[in-house]
Amino acid sequence: MEIDYYNIQKKLKKYNQEHLLMFYNELSDFEKHKLLNQLNSINYEKVNSLYNNLKSHTIPLDEVIEPLDYFIKNDFSENQKSFLNNIGENVLKQNTYAVLTMAGGQGTRLGHKGPKGTFELNLYPEKKSLFEILAIKIKEANEKYSINVPWYIMTSEENNDETINFFINKNYFGLDKQNISFFIQNKLPLVSFNGEILLSEPYKVHEVSNGNGDIFDSLQYNGLIENMKQKNIKWIFISGIDNILADISDPIFLGLTINNHTEIGSKTIFKKDPFSQDWVFCKKNGKPSMLGYERITESLTNAKINNKYLYREINILCHIFSIQALEKCSTLKLPYHLAKKKNIYINDEGMKIFPNESNSYKFEKFIFDAFKFFENITLLRVNPEEEFAPIKNPEGVYSPMSATKLYIKQNQK
Ligand code: UTP
Repeated sequence: MEIDYYNIQKKLKKYNQEHLLMFYNELSDFEKHKLLNQLNSINYEKVNSLYNNLKSHTIPLDEVIEPLDYFIKNDFSENQKSFLNNIGENVLKQNTYAVLTMAGGQGTRLGHKGPKGTFELNLYPEKKSLFEILAIKIKEANEKYSINVPWYIMTSEENNDETINFFINKNYFGLDKQNISFFIQNKLPLVSFNGEILLSEPYKVHEVSNGNGDIFDSLQYNGLIENMKQKNIKWIFISGIDNILADISDPIFLGLTINNHTEIGSKTIFKKDPFSQDWVFCKKNGKPSMLGYERITESLTNAKINNKYLYREINILCHIFSIQALEKCSTLKLPYHLAKKKNIYINDEGMKIFPNESNSYKFEKFIFDAFKFFENITLLRVNPEEEFAPIKNPEGVYSPMSATKLYIKQNQK
């Protein structure tokens, strides 16, 4: 169907986004068609109201904040470990366990060209990509438990084709390709700090993935919850692409979540610096939740009972969900957050700008916003030296260098 320029122009005017047609007259016919198609598909009402509501969002003052209980892996006795291990291993051996990797992020801080999972680390003597590191762990679990773990990989429209081609070129790292499912998450336009939608090319709106909390909707939309049920999957391990020490098949974690009668388990690390900007787990109005750093007062961060800190558990994006929990989450409407990001854009002169600092807002849903729809979740504090080596920045903290060091140390063990 031909899209009418004047209708689009009228619509853009209504939502104060007319600048998106600024270069229209200079475009080729093909580019004009492409741009009009994209402009026609965008929900401006949603973008504008998300921007306005999130900009004026204030912290609710009436929420009751309480601590959320947690376990500490290092404190378990050998007997406890072996008890939990048995529960977890029994489930793993039944071939009812799947791994889901969230790889739809933009990786703006790392700045790697291409999907973050294709980033290679020098792990002396060989180089390995983040995807390969995960693939090896899945292969090891398959061999150890004589199973065939299905692997679900969430991508974005920006990086899906490159991700799939990477797997094809690497021959799926020796895994059964029938057992790997890629699915694309939803997207939304980026906006400037003034709420203007950004262009990434004179003929293209800069749309990006809408946060890792979109996994529930996009799994459902792509028919993958049904797919998991058909495969008799009962438990799903969910993590990001960039923590190269994530233990994707930890029977103790699985056993603990089951034994604690919860549908969700989440690993944490201890917040060493009481005033860092990390969010921590808590209960809000009696339900599992996260406390933003702007709300963590000195008395909360130092609060202790029986020598146990109450608000020092950091979320490391390593979760276990039961299939029922995933299905329930896919019916929820999770809120959006505004994340400041550094993104390319086309300026008024039509030049592509690569900013040095954050210049845009990304609308993101967070997976942890689903936790409050459950009575309880199981938290397990782990040792960051053993289980947390994320790659976020090109250097310094959480960089390829710091992660490689921890990875090599852990693998020498
Ligand atoms: P981060 O929030 O750290 O974002 O994602 P990022 O994209 O990796 O990096 P920056 O912030 O742009 O530098 C944590 C995990 O969630 C996934 C990421 O791929 C990563 O594994 N994620 C994030 C998604 O799958 N989709 C998203 O929209 C955002």
